[in-house]
Amino acid sequence: MSKSRNTPQANAMWGGRFASGPDAIMSRINASIDFDQRLYAQDIAGSVAHCRMLVSEGIISDADGDAILSGLDTVLQEIESGKFEFKTALEDIHMNVEARLRELIGDAAGRLHTARSRNDQVATDLRLWVRDAVDGIDAQLAALQATLIGLAETQADVPLPGFTHLQPAQPVTFGHHMLAYVEMYGRDRGRFADCRKRLNESPLGAAALAGTSFPIDRKQTATALGFDRPMANSLDAVSARDFALEFLAAAAVCVMHLSRQAEELVIWCSPQFGFIRLSDAYSTGSSIMPQKRNPDAAELARAKAGRIFGALQGLLVVMKGLPLAYGKDMQEDKEPVFDAADNLSLTIAAMNGMIGDLTVVPETMAAALEHGYPTATDLADWLVRVLDMPFRDAHHATGAIVGLAEKKGCALADLPLAAMQDVAPGITEDVFSVLSVSASIESRSSEGGTAVENVRAAVAAARERFL
Ligand code: ARG
Repeated sequence: MSKSRNTPQANAMWGGRFASGPDAIMSRINASIDFDQRLYAQDIAGSVAHCRMLVSEGIISDADGDAILSGLDTVLQEIESGKFEFKTALEDIHMNVEARLRELIGDAAGRLHTARSRNDQVATDLRLWVRDAVDGIDAQLAALQATLIGLAETQADVPLPGFTHLQPAQPVTFGHHMLAYVEMYGRDRGRFADCRKRLNESPLGAAALAGTSFPIDRKQTATALGFDRPMANSLDAVSARDFALEFLAAAAVCVMHLSRQAEELVIWCSPQFGFIRLSDAYSTGSSIMPQKRNPDAAELARAKAGRIFGALQGLLVVMKGLPLAYGKDMQEDKEPVFDAADNLSLTIAAMNGMIGDLTVVPETMAAALEHGYPTATDLADWLVRVLDMPFRDAHHATGAIVGLAEKKGCALADLPLAAMQDVAPGITEDVFSVLSVSASIESRSSEGGTAVENVRAAVAAARERFL
């Protein structure tokens, strides 16, 4: 026995051959309006460009074109002022806009969809949206770089223990460390710019998949929308989503970098390290432990990587194995793209705010440099340079000297010369000139190294290259 239900009305846009409309569940799974309404501005811009082209090619009349353009303008205003009523029954942003246009201007609205399909429409809209997102993220990353470069300048000569394996390794400067992230974010910007270059081609005019029999001018619509050119193949134009994947891939790498820096903020602001202090504005308290200053924003920045990696993985799986051309599967492209863009933007903003507001505590970093023998490499290098030892032997001798210091519980610079000479008889008083933190930093003057003069020059160069 079939279930009795009220027969829903056939869809006004495509229901010509349907006796009834979709089941409520069918509507729910099919409709994208809840999330694709974010494409309204791009959708209307695409329609304006398409309409102007239809008029200039004589495909629709001037009068119909004028009515459509003024109607689209009204729709835009209605949406922006919050007066527009989005309807699930109309599935998506494209049909919501067109249906309202018909209410406003009547039958002429039906001519707008000449020589076009929702397939090329949605591909166009999303490319335009991602392009805007890329531009916004680029500006945010530049702002974050500016903050880091500013901090690198004021902290160019402040010693910080450099770590490998999170074990004290060699002294660096705080400024040098900040500039490492400036480089990473610079490459992230490069990846987004590269993605932008490839995505900036127009799918519009590919129509459903095969092109159209109408004498359209795809160059005109491409130019009007700021695209570099029309996409060359109509099937590719409606089925390609690699532009969205490239955006997500760039976002994934970028948030990976942000998460590394966030993790360092978490570590550095813990009382055990105390290298930095986060401002009140970027710390949170505990409801039970009154002493706490938690770095929640840094922890969340660290965690955002999870969902952005997930967005990339999710869309890769959606696209994998999809036959050409358009498949409704591809409607699932939008939420991961929107979510990743929103969360990346928020994460960059939070990191910029936190870093711009933090206080560097040079005393704790200096104290930390007294432990862990961070100038051991300088001692080995001295043995190579002055005593002409092979580096492997110098490394071995230094290891033994570090062992002595460890036993005595003192720093390398506080070991008596005689104790060092027991290990390597040729060592002279001169060795002490390389065992201080500042001497170690000053000696790292090779290109890209941490010597203070290098860092100052790198600050100036970074301003030139990135800002
Ligand atoms: N809402 C659809 C999407 O986001 C628009 C394209 C629909 N095309 C179609 N042939 N049903 O992908």
